[in-house]
Amino acid sequence: MARPRSVHACTECGAQSPRWLGRCPSCGGWNTLVEEPVGGAGESAEAILEAPRGAVQAIRLGDVRSEETPRFSSGISELDRVLGGGIVPGAVLLLGGEPGVGKSTLALQLAAEACAAGRTVLYVCGEESPEQVRLRAERLPGDPAEVRVVAETRVEALGAVWRETRPELVIVDSIQTMRTDRVESAPGSVSQVRECAALLAAAAKTGNTAVVLVGHVTKEGAIAGPRVLEHLVDVVLTFEGDRSHAVRALRATKNRFGSTQEVGVFAMTGSGLEGVENPSELFLAERRPGVPGSCIVPFLEGTRPMLLEVQALVAPAGYATARRTCLGIDDGRVALLLAVLERRAGIDLVSRDVYVNVTGGVRVAEPGADLGVALALASSRLDVPLPDDVAACGEIGLGGEVRRVGRIDLRVREAARLGFRRILLPERVGAALDAPKGTTLVSVADLAEAVRWLRKPSAPPRE
Ligand code: TYD
Ligand code: MG
Repeated sequence: MARPRSVHACTECGAQSPRWLGRCPSCGGWNTLVEEPVGGAGESAEAILEAPRGAVQAIRLGDVRSEETPRFSSGISELDRVLGGGIVPGAVLLLGGEPGVGKSTLALQLAAEACAAGRTVLYVCGEESPEQVRLRAERLPGDPAEVRVVAETRVEALGAVWRETRPELVIVDSIQTMRTDRVESAPGSVSQVRECAALLAAAAKTGNTAVVLVGHVTKEGAIAGPRVLEHLVDVVLTFEGDRSHAVRALRATKNRFGSTQEVGVFAMTGSGLEGVENPSELFLAERRPGVPGSCIVPFLEGTRPMLLEVQALVAPAGYATARRTCLGIDDGRVALLLAVLERRAGIDLVSRDVYVNVTGGVRVAEPGADLGVALALASSRLDVPLPDDVAACGEIGLGGEVRRVGRIDLRVREAARLGFRRILLPERVGAALDAPKGTTLVSVADLAEAVRWLRKPSAPPRE
């Protein structure tokens, strides 16, 4: 039987079928199958390995010269922090986020900063008109007058202006609006988005131009969105934040030139995005001391410690089944802590409604906040406020034991820096750590001990 010369491959998931189908049997996408030629038929692995000698050479890894990657500062310190020092010429960056989070604002501020540093910047606005871009620019700090704006959505049409201006930075807002003649489908479809990004990435490498692609992500993940581009680009940045809060977090989920551990914190203000150097101060600014049900928790974003306020409210249940509502923290984690409080610390929570909220619109996803959340819950239930200068960190096990968490030294230092003088910690860590000046480390072995401490706190350190 003759071998088939082509297959039909899904552009969404890569599944193959010998014939064309209207719907991909693997991912269920409609009209996603395209014909592709089958290559390499007939050659065995041995034959391939017997290619002529000397064609390719392997070098000792030890002989490879490692040079410091050249970078230029983006002019936005929080962005530099996430990128690992700055933008690498020739790199392709994808800036993803939900609509309205502030991607265009960040991109335009970046363009203005790069121009101020004497670089040529091309801003391709496929989504808005140059007038709209200009209006936004008027609200922002910096002078973006020198930014070259191109209102164009055909990638091929960019070639001439690209060659002429020789930009060092190109911003494409957004990749979903771009199209190329090489693909027939509509702008925004997976094949268009992928093909355009591949063309722009190739142009970036040829001209040693840094390219920022702005991409929308929907709540569900992606519609023809940035996900399909992640392997094509060098850096994937995600911009997150609750639109009802000012705080925005910028993270690198992929970074070929640096770590993916860092987080940049911004506040959306009336005049653009402002870098937040001390997020803890922002998060704690509206705290009301002396209210039961509040606890300060030092948590880590990568290697950056931040203090957050966890609030809990325990109220008699209005209905037969008690309500459990959690914002900014996993429901399952809170359910676990409620069970441990009930069984191991003797706090009665049956038929009580429970509300837990992490202030500032931040989401805490690490177990280091457990002790703080449990103390906030106990404090609300017992109607006993925690002293104002107390912070707590530690993971809680099902036996009620308080367990150690990573980089406790960083957390303690941040808490001490912001004036917290008593810090509740897992037992073994507390003994091994040197307390910063003016701070007492309070070791607690288990949750029962922590709750006893809440009822009768030890005195703060003397001045
Ligand atoms: P935008 O950057 O357009 O978001 P995206 O490109 O991610 O869709 O901006 C989103 C929101 O930010 C918009 O609702 C208006 C608000 N905003 C400010 O609060 N201050 C400002 O200075 C600017 C430019 C925008
Ligand atoms: Mg936008």
